[in-house]
Amino acid sequence: CGIVGYIGHREAYPIIIKGLERLEYRGYDSAGVALFDGDKINLAKTKGKVSDLKKKSEDTISTKGSIGIGHTRWATHGVPNDVNSHPHYSNSGELVIIHNGIIENYESIKTELIKRGYTFESDTDTEVLINLIEEVQKKENVKLGKAVQLALNEVVGAYAIAVFDIKKPDEIVVAKLGSPLAIGMGDNEFFVASDASPFIEFTNNAVYLEDEEMAIIRLGKEIKLRKIKNDAVAYPNILELQMNLEEIEKGGYDHFMLKEIYEQPRAILDTYRGRLLADQKLIKMAGIDEHLDKFVNANRIIIVACGTSWHAGLVAEYIFEDLARIPVEVEYASEFRYRNPVITDKDVLIAISQSGETADTLAAIKLAKENGAFVFGVCNVVGSSIARETNAGAYTHAGPEIGVASTKAFTTQITVLSLIALKLAQEKGSLTDEQFTSFLTELEYIPTKVEVALQSNDAIEKIAEVYKDSPNCLYLGRGYNFPVALEGALKLKEISYIHAEGYPAAEMKHGPIALIDESMPVIVIATNKGHYEKVVSNIQEIKSRKGKIIAVVTEGDVQVKELADHVIEVPETLEALTPLLTTIPLQLLSYHIALMRGCNVDQPRNLAKSVTVE
Ligand code: G6P
Repeated sequence: CGIVGYIGHREAYPIIIKGLERLEYRGYDSAGVALFDGDKINLAKTKGKVSDLKKKSEDTISTKGSIGIGHTRWATHGVPNDVNSHPHYSNSGELVIIHNGIIENYESIKTELIKRGYTFESDTDTEVLINLIEEVQKKENVKLGKAVQLALNEVVGAYAIAVFDIKKPDEIVVAKLGSPLAIGMGDNEFFVASDASPFIEFTNNAVYLEDEEMAIIRLGKEIKLRKIKNDAVAYPNILELQMNLEEIEKGGYDHFMLKEIYEQPRAILDTYRGRLLADQKLIKMAGIDEHLDKFVNANRIIIVACGTSWHAGLVAEYIFEDLARIPVEVEYASEFRYRNPVITDKDVLIAISQSGETADTLAAIKLAKENGAFVFGVCNVVGSSIARETNAGAYTHAGPEIGVASTKAFTTQITVLSLIALKLAQEKGSLTDEQFTSFLTELEYIPTKVEVALQSNDAIEKIAEVYKDSPNCLYLGRGYNFPVALEGALKLKEISYIHAEGYPAAEMKHGPIALIDESMPVIVIATNKGHYEKVVSNIQEIKSRKGKIIAVVTEGDVQVKELADHVIEVPETLEALTPLLTTIPLQLLSYHIALMRGCNVDQPRNLAKSVTVE
C-alpha cells in the first residue's frame, strides 16, 4: 500500500495519480484520492487499480485544486471494496485521512466513539482513527496538529498517516510509526509519500520521518518535526536523493520484473564495486571493518528474513559455514520473534531485507537488540527503517526494485553475504590464500556469466510454452542449490499462481516422489559441482516414474542431457557462487509462464512488495 500527498502551487491531481502509479509495485487492491478545490473536498475511491480510480475521479468529481492526498490500500481490516478504500472522512466531513498500517486497538476506541454518537460507514480501523482525531479536536478545542498528536497517543499499532482539515486548508499533518513516510521539499511546495519515487522529478531533497515523529506541513512555513510522545521539536535532516527517474521507469522493457532480471549483471557489479579489491587481495566494507571483532568472536550468526530474502539467508548459511566456519542459523523473522529464542551478547544477528521495512524482520531486530546481540542489516533501500534500526550494515546496490517478485535483490543479497563470508574467512584464516584469491577473481566474472545465463531467454520461453498449463511443479536442488530450488518455486507461485514446491533433491524420496507422474514437471538444478552424481541418480528416479525433467546444468554437460527432457546451461563457476547463475533461468521461466497465463507479472494478486504489517 502507498500514500501520496501534495500541497503547493501546481495541480495536485496529476501528481497524486502519477505518484500512486509509481507506488503500485507495493501491492494494493483499491485506491482513492481527496482534493481541496478551495471551497470543498472532492473525493473519489474505488476497488481496483489506479487506472480505475483515474476513470472514476475524472467521471465523477472535479479534479481541481493544489492540495490533495491519495492512497493505495492493501486490505487488512475489511474486504477490499469502495467503502473501505481510503481516504476516509470524519463524521463532520471536515477531516480526511489516508493511512498505511494497522490500528490494533481500534475496536475499543470504536465502541467508545459509538457511545458518543459517532457512526461508521466502513469496517476500517482508519475511519476510527479519523473520528478519534475529530473527537479530540472538539473536546480539547485544539488545532489539527495537536489533535493528531493526542489521538495517536491513545492508539496502539503502526501507521503512516496524512490528514487534512477543511478549516485549515493550507496544511497537511503527517505522522509515522512503523510504516515509512517521506516528505519531498520543493520550493514552497511539499510532497508526501511512502517513498521518494512519486516526487523525484520535482525535488531531490527529502526528509524521512523517524518512528513516533510527526510534522505539520504548511505553505510558507519551515517544516518542524515533533515527537508524538512528548513535544520535543527537531529540525529536519534533509537528505539529497541520488535516485533518478529513469531508474524507476521500465526503460523499454515490458515489465519491471524483466527489466530487473536483466539488470542483474550491473546490479551485482554495483554491489561489489569498491568493496572487492582483487589486486590488493582485500575486501573493504565499512560496516564489517568497524565491527570485525563482533563477527570473528561470535558464537554464531543468526540470520532473520522473510520471503526471498530468507532464501538468500539460506544460501548465506552454506557460504558462512563452508568458507568462514562460523555456525549459522536461519530463521523466518515471524517465527523467531514469537518463539522466545535464546539470544546472547555473543550472537550476531544479520537481518536481510530488500525494502528494509518488513514488519516481522524489524520486530526480530528489536528483540535481538534488547537481548544484547549485535545486529547487522543487509538492505537495498537506503535510509529504510531496518537500515536505521541496526547497529551496522551493508547496502545491496541493486537500485529500486519495483516488481513485487524479487529478483535482483536476491542475487545482490547473495553477493553482499558472499563478500562478508570471504572477509571473515580471510580474517579467521579458514581459507588458503589461493582459495581466497580465486574466489575474488571468480566473483569478478559473475556479472559476465550472468549475461551469458540470460542468453537462454528464448529457449526458456519455448520451455514455458510446454508447461504453462501445468497445475503443479516440483523444484529440486542440493547443497548451495537447495535454497535456489525454494526460490524458483516461490517465484513461480507468486506470479503464475501455479502450485510449486521446492525440495532438497535427496529428500524427494521421502514424500514428493509420490506426486511424480507423466504430467509433473520437475525442475532440477544439476551443476557439475557439489554432489553431481547424486543429483543424476535423483534425475533417474524421476525419469523412471515418467516425470518431465527440466534441468539447469553446467555448460558442456553430457550425462544429464541424455536423461532430461530439456536442459538449460549456465556457465561454470565455483560451487559457492552457483546460486548467482542457476537462479537466472528459474526467474525467466516463471516470468514467461506467468505472462503466457495472462497474469499481472509486476503486481501479482494478494501480494505486497513491502509488508509493513505483521
Ligand atoms: C514480500 C515480498 C517478497 C519479499 C518479502 C520480504 O512478501 O512480496 O518479494 O521477499 O516481502 O521483503 P523484504 O523487503 O524484507 O526483503
